[in-house]
Amino acid sequence: MAKIKTIGLLTSGGDAPGMNAAIRAVTRSAIYNGFKVKGIYRGYKGLVTDEIVDFKTQNVSNIIQHGGTILKTARCKEFTAFEGRQQAYDNMRKHDIDALVVIGGDGSLTGAREFAAEFDVPIVGLPGTIDNDLYGTDHTIGYDTALNTVMWCVDRIRDTAGSHERLFFIEVMGRNAGFLALNGAIASGAEAAIIPEISTEVDQLAELIQNGFRKSKNSSIVLVAESPITGGAMGLAERVRKEFPQYDVRVTILGHLQRGGSPTARDRILASRMGAAAIDALLEGQRNVMIGDANDEIVLVPFGRAIHKSKPIDPSLVEILRRLSI
Ligand code: F6P
Repeated sequence: MAKIKTIGLLTSGGDAPGMNAAIRAVTRSAIYNGFKVKGIYRGYKGLVTDEIVDFKTQNVSNIIQHGGTILKTARCKEFTAFEGRQQAYDNMRKHDIDALVVIGGDGSLTGAREFAAEFDVPIVGLPGTIDNDLYGTDHTIGYDTALNTVMWCVDRIRDTAGSHERLFFIEVMGRNAGFLALNGAIASGAEAAIIPEISTEVDQLAELIQNGFRKSKNSSIVLVAESPITGGAMGLAERVRKEFPQYDVRVTILGHLQRGGSPTARDRILASRMGAAAIDALLEGQRNVMIGDANDEIVLVPFGRAIHKSKPIDPSLVEILRRLSI
């Protein structure tokens, strides 16, 4: 394998708090180890359209505390076609980029895997998504911050829910995964979480209504994962209005609010560890792996596993939520 001298760095897909901390860690670890760094703007789009600049240590000063990504991000259609990937490869050659570090979620790592296989490019991925849905890592960069944002929001909704004695369905992001909903419900003391991982097995809403929500209280908060499998908060509220008109129901969709904000210490540290590990992995000759964090240890997860295996939720958390909401 040719010696790696220059590393290209991009963020792709939905932004996540902590991506800047990861950009900083990758850039500085790379420079520390004698590599050159090129920042690629707007994810794969910038690789296709040649938005590539030299990155020095100063480019990443004063960014660790900011949400979003200074490299910008995009979901790039051109890169899904071979011609787009060919153009991306040509631009890599033009800028003497020998390897890539891709920070993003499921879709971004899927693109990385395909690109690496077609053009024999060494790529290391960092899991950057609020959804926490990548297999092989306990946490993804951005998840902890988003979880804290969810908790903060639910705390506030609880005040009005209690005053009006209402039932609130609060919809959270997560794409097809229920991590934000389940852990957000535990952290905020909600009555229940309706998540896609369980929705296919039981009618969670019917179960909830049958149990009379929380008997000792006259207001209730239910977190709903956004997936079509759960029906979403709107769908569930609609059902309750029809089937159980005695409840005064309201819906709040937290939406993109969950993607913003200054990253928590936990996300900044995770991003810093993972960014440094990405450079270590390239130094060791690793390629086509995602950096993961398993039991607080850095692990390398082949792209295929990270993308294709679905990450299970911890059933003991479902049980804890049930037990604590009596
Ligand atoms: O993957 C992160 C995420 O925020 C998901 O939770 C959500 O389904 C999706 O991105 C929204 O994407 P967009 O910002 O493109 O609407």
